[in-house]
Amino acid sequence: MKVFSSLLIFLGILAIGSTDGDEEFANYNVTNRKYPDGFKFGVATAAYQIEGAWNLDGKGEQIWDTFFHEHPERSNDGTNGDVATDSYHLYKEDIRCMKEVGVDYYRLSIAWSRLLPDGTIDNVNKNAKNYYTSLFEELRANGIEVMVTLYHWDLPTALEKQGGWLNPQVVDWFTDYATLCYHLYGTYVKDWVTINEPKQICHVGYGDGGYAPGVRSPGVGEYTCARHILLAHAKAWRVFDTQYRPTLKSRNTIVVDSDWYEPATSADEEAAETKLQFVHGMYMHPIVFGNWPQIMIDNVAKFSQVQGFNESRLPAFSNEEIELIKGTFDFIAINHYTTYMVKARSQPSYAVSWVADSGVDSYQKDTWETAAIGWFKKVPWGFGKLLRWLRKTYGDLEIVVTENGVSDRDGSLQDQHRIEYIKNYMSHLIDAIHDGVRVTSYTLWSIIDNFEWTQGFNGKLGIYFVNQSDPNLPRIAKDSSRYYANVIKTKCLLDQCVDN
Ligand code: BGC
Repeated sequence: MKVFSSLLIFLGILAIGSTDGDEEFANYNVTNRKYPDGFKFGVATAAYQIEGAWNLDGKGEQIWDTFFHEHPERSNDGTNGDVATDSYHLYKEDIRCMKEVGVDYYRLSIAWSRLLPDGTIDNVNKNAKNYYTSLFEELRANGIEVMVTLYHWDLPTALEKQGGWLNPQVVDWFTDYATLCYHLYGTYVKDWVTINEPKQICHVGYGDGGYAPGVRSPGVGEYTCARHILLAHAKAWRVFDTQYRPTLKSRNTIVVDSDWYEPATSADEEAAETKLQFVHGMYMHPIVFGNWPQIMIDNVAKFSQVQGFNESRLPAFSNEEIELIKGTFDFIAINHYTTYMVKARSQPSYAVSWVADSGVDSYQKDTWETAAIGWFKKVPWGFGKLLRWLRKTYGDLEIVVTENGVSDRDGSLQDQHRIEYIKNYMSHLIDAIHDGVRVTSYTLWSIIDNFEWTQGFNGKLGIYFVNQSDPNLPRIAKDSSRYYANVIKTKCLLDQCVDN
């Protein structure tokens, strides 16, 4: 009996100390397999990060204009996106870079307040209408397909003044805006993304207040925001599906930012799954299955009760809303950058917040190499794990990677570290494809160094450098642009690959 229990303890220790991705992939070699035929490669940007021209030609103000004008200290280097990379005027330069790299498609966003200065369709800005038409025409002339994000965080300030994403009317404001875009630009666009990264919009914008509009409402406002985001997405998707898809034959989805959460030990597997449900499931579960993940419903109800709330802080969806949201995607779209470790908590935290509601702790290892921006730790194996988890959790669905990339501070043209990042992340992606995960496209963030939100121009993620001290803002190729161009041409990450 004694021997048996000692053996159990020994096995238990072995299990608890079980390997994480670092050990599992310690001797990892970049694959010499090729990307499959038909796989597509793109690059991405977003309006506020590149357009500039913040108040030109009738554009209305949006929440990031207001945020940085009122709080310049919120930007790491005191800069803002007033001029950004001036792509409003220099978009042909950006497209020239894309052509040089040979991308299949460009993911860009439309600035809601450029097209609708007060946010509503009562007042359409003709200059903006023409600007986006010229941009799409130029892409068409260069044989570059278009993926459009309708909302990349830039809510018109006029709408924020009425409560923004906390006001239920936002569902209709957004649907009207989306419908106008389908109508105006439908023939140019191959894939639509309604909303980019609801997590950042809600939990940073309306939770801890770190992003525009800077509303602090942890554990309450952030959930209201999430509910409205999902309803707005669903309603806009339904309009597309019934009124535009039949003639346009394009597709539509929502982008969920999806980092990987790795259990610290095998005893933390449940904690890691809970975290994944709180961060990705919160948005993916509703669009695939129709409601919040059960673990969220249970946890938030439990914590809310202990905290003395009359009802759960997580607002419920009606049956009708569940039906509206369920199935509103043509493919799963994810942005992936990094990985976190997860540990179960020995003592629950009773703070009122989405982070505390998950009931687990997450952190990044000091040993992981850091890119310029703190959280950009380079953990390529996490990408493969995430992709396999998506398949396991949501089934055999098509997945499009809508963002991946890495930052530095100086924008060096000899950016070997970026080449290594791309190579390793893209290698784990090929492995996942060979394991049966149906990934069809990869989008690199970003074609040019641009305005990196609260990091200002201090976080550079481009494969082209933009010289901010030259008034002409020239775009200059970095080594990584040549590497990516070669990958696109050869479908191979190394000098030589085996044939598929
Ligand atoms: C956002 C981009 C941002 C990138 C790098 C993503 O979360 O969609 O706008 O530039 O990450 O931080």
